[in-house]
Amino acid sequence: MSGSRGRVARPDYPPRPAPSAKLATMTEAAAKPAARPSTLPAKPRAFSGIQPSGITHLGNDLGAIRNFVALQNRGVAEGFETIYCIVDYHALTSSHDPEILRLRTLEMAASLIALGLDPDKCTLFVQSHRPEVTELCWLFNTVTPVGWLLRTPTYKEKRANQPDDINHGLLTYPVLQAADIVLWKASLVPIGKDQAPHLELSREIVRAFNARYGETFPEPKAVYTEAPVVLGTDGVKKMSKSVGNTIEILGEPDVIRKQVMSMVTDTQRIMRSDPGRPQVCNVCQMHRHFGADYEEVWEGERTARTGCVDTKKLLAERIIAHYAPARETYRELMADLPRLRRTLEEGAERIRPIAEATMAEVRERMGLR
Ligand code: TYM
Repeated sequence: MSGSRGRVARPDYPPRPAPSAKLATMTEAAAKPAARPSTLPAKPRAFSGIQPSGITHLGNDLGAIRNFVALQNRGVAEGFETIYCIVDYHALTSSHDPEILRLRTLEMAASLIALGLDPDKCTLFVQSHRPEVTELCWLFNTVTPVGWLLRTPTYKEKRANQPDDINHGLLTYPVLQAADIVLWKASLVPIGKDQAPHLELSREIVRAFNARYGETFPEPKAVYTEAPVVLGTDGVKKMSKSVGNTIEILGEPDVIRKQVMSMVTDTQRIMRSDPGRPQVCNVCQMHRHFGADYEEVWEGERTARTGCVDTKKLLAERIIAHYAPARETYRELMADLPRLRRTLEEGAERIRPIAEATMAEVRERMGLR
C-alpha cells in the first residue's frame, strides 16, 4: 500500500478535475513543496476505541485491551501519549435506550480501569464529550466515496444483524472511526483483527485527505496482540456479544463456569478415550493465555489422559482466578459513579487542546473560516 501514498489508491475515487479547472489537481498539489512545517506529533500517539456494549468479553481483552495496557505502559516509559475512548456515538447506530447507553458507558469505563488502564498514565474519555470528532467526521465524509463504505464488510455484517434498522450511521460508521483516530493525530491503533477493514479504510481516508489538502494526518497502523482473533464458545465465529458466544470476564464466577462449560471442543473427539487435537481445540488454544503450563494441558488432551470436561473446568477456574482482582476493582468503581464520571470528564478536558489545534488546522486547510 505504501506505493499509493500521496495518490488516491481506489479506482472509483471521483476523477481528478481537468488541468484547466480552478482546483489544483492532486498531482499539482503533490508536486508543490510543503508550504508549512509538519504538524505531526514528534512521537507517535496511540489511540483506540471500544463500544459500551454492556459486556467485556475475553475477545475484547485478549484481542485488544491487553494491548491498550501494554501501550499505556510503553507510552509512560517512552514519553508518548495514549488515548482510549468509549465510543458512545458509534453505539447509537445499534443501541437506542438513553438510560442503558449512559449506564453501559460507565460500566465500560469501570471495566477498562479494572483491566489495567490508569487514568493517570493514559487518557480515558467518552467520545461524545469531545464533539469535535463529529465535525471531523463530516469533513472526512466529503473526501470519502460512498462506494468505499458500501463495500466495507462490517457494513454488510451490521445490515444483516439489524435488517430493520439500517440507519445512515451504520454506513458512515468507519468515517467516524477514522476521525476518532486522527483527531489526535494518532498512528498506533491497538485493535483485534475484526477491525482491520475499518483501519484500512481510515488509512484510505487519511490518504485522500492528505492528497487533497496537504500532509495533515499520519496514516494509522494496527497493533495486534498474540490473539488477534478470539473465537467464541461455539468455536466457529469470533467472540461477539451480537452472536451470543461470549465469556464475560468480569461476570460472576458461575456465569463464567457456565459459559466455559458450554464451549465446543475438538469435534472429532467423540469418546473420552479418543486422543484430542489441541491445535484445533478452542479450549486448548485459550489455555495458552492462562498458564505457562499450557503445553502440559495439551499433552493431556493429546494422550486422552484428560477429558474435554476436565480441560474446560480447569480453564474456567483459571479465567475466574485471573480476573478476580479486576472483578473486585470493577465493583468498587461502580460503587462510586460520581467519581467515575469525574475521571471521564477530566480525561476529555485534558485532551481538549489537541482536538482544538487539529480542528483549527483542518478548517484552515479546507477553506473554512
Ligand atoms: P468493539 O467495541 O467491537 O471491540 C473493542 C475491541 O475488541 C476487539 N475484539 C476482538 N479481538 C479479537 N477477537 C475478538 N473476538 C474480538 N472481539 C472484539 C476489537 O477488535 C476492538 O479492538 N469499531 C470499534 C470501536 C472503535 C474504534 C475506533 C477502534 C470506534 N472508533 C477507533 C479503534 C479505533 C468496535 O466496535 O470495537
